[in-house]
Amino acid sequence: MLTFPKDFVWGSSTSGPQSEGRVAGDGKGENLWDYWYSLEPDRFHGQIGPETTSTFYLNYEKDIDLLLETGHTIFRTSIQWSRLFPKGVGEVNQTALAFYRKVFSLIKDKGIELMVNLYHFDLPFELQKIEGWENRAIVDAYQAYARFCFENFGDLVDRWITFNEPIVPVECGYLYDYHYPNKLDAKAAAQVAYHTQLASSLAVKECHAVNSAYKIGIVLNLTPAYPRSQHPADLKAARIAELFQAKSFLDPSVKGEYPQELVAILKEHDLLPTYRPEDLDVIRQHKVDFLGINYYQPLRVAAPRYLPHPDAPFQPDFYYDHYVMPGRKINPHRGWEIYEKGIYDIAQSIKEDYGNIEWLLTENGMGVEGEEKFRENGFIQDDYRIDFIKGHLKELHRAIEEGSNCKGYLLWTFIDCWSWLNAYKNRYGLIELNLETQERIIKKSGHWFKELSQNGGFEP
Ligand code: BG6
Repeated sequence: MLTFPKDFVWGSSTSGPQSEGRVAGDGKGENLWDYWYSLEPDRFHGQIGPETTSTFYLNYEKDIDLLLETGHTIFRTSIQWSRLFPKGVGEVNQTALAFYRKVFSLIKDKGIELMVNLYHFDLPFELQKIEGWENRAIVDAYQAYARFCFENFGDLVDRWITFNEPIVPVECGYLYDYHYPNKLDAKAAAQVAYHTQLASSLAVKECHAVNSAYKIGIVLNLTPAYPRSQHPADLKAARIAELFQAKSFLDPSVKGEYPQELVAILKEHDLLPTYRPEDLDVIRQHKVDFLGINYYQPLRVAAPRYLPHPDAPFQPDFYYDHYVMPGRKINPHRGWEIYEKGIYDIAQSIKEDYGNIEWLLTENGMGVEGEEKFRENGFIQDDYRIDFIKGHLKELHRAIEEGSNCKGYLLWTFIDCWSWLNAYKNRYGLIELNLETQERIIKKSGHWFKELSQNGGFEP
């Protein structure tokens, strides 16, 4: 039996925009996903947009019961900024305030630890209209929103999160053409990343000012960058990939400062953001209390094969190529590599290079396309998901035995949910969602997860 520490928590993560849905009269304002969908529905898988999702807004009471039925001792979701402040600033939507208080109270009443994230890629559209995170005014707006949340929900929340995977909107929206506003402008990307970090540090400051006992962290999608070989050119590629992908938020959030080599690269390409010197004190003084780490697949890189075209817009992968390792283990239903040891390597790096700060694995999971083909006797027999979780937990257990300060495991996700560009293509849940009837059916993994949580471990 692999047994985890007594205070180790078990649960899952979701986000407001991916689970709640919109209901007539709920007072929610548009966020940039609502807007982008109205503009270019074809860019969303099957033209399925963010309006429906898994109807948590209507079904939260039953869904919270399902948390218990699947053994949750912790649950992470996010507040939708555009639900609480339909215009991003100013008037509060009282219906939303009451909704979140009801949901959070219910979760607490069930004895489940509650982790609440303030931002999961979902800027209110009114703020995107004024250039979004490129505009410093958004930092002020976010700071006010964050403070409002600490003051109004702080009594119910055990752990706050400032941002989920803040590098994702920077990459997908400003360096590559995946998310709105699809800019391909590295200077704007650097400004957006910097403003996001500053906003996160200011939220830490506000949180502790409201109550010094409140705990606040940031969720980062981390993976070491694994070089193709030990050739110096591959090692350099890996070092630089890691600077952009991980350390750009990890270092300022945990150490209170940016890595010098990253600053030097940005300077060389004339990409340094506009900043005020006093901001750096804010970042230095307001470090996170803990980290949330999301891990799905490793990042493998090699030295770039080609020189970039001199007129092409700058992208960090001028410095590295993505590397597909021959013989890698793969999840054939999603196309992502499975590399369980990545968890151990992350844990070791946090222990050795980041002061062994407290952390939780806040997302890990297996997306499966066409999952209904695994239905037998009325429910999904997802042994592959159980094996996936076990494989990662083995590595996590090894790291904890060696002193890693990891306090919990949260799967992505509890009920199959809508995903940004992929809609419901990749199912991740412990619980199946029937899109026609909205019926929820616990998968085999959901029953197994409950045993895992009750036993505090599993038979490998
Ligand atoms: C995570 C995000 O990185 O990946 C989630 O935090 C997202 O919001 C999840 O849903 C799964 O992504 P996908 O594209 O496989 O549905």
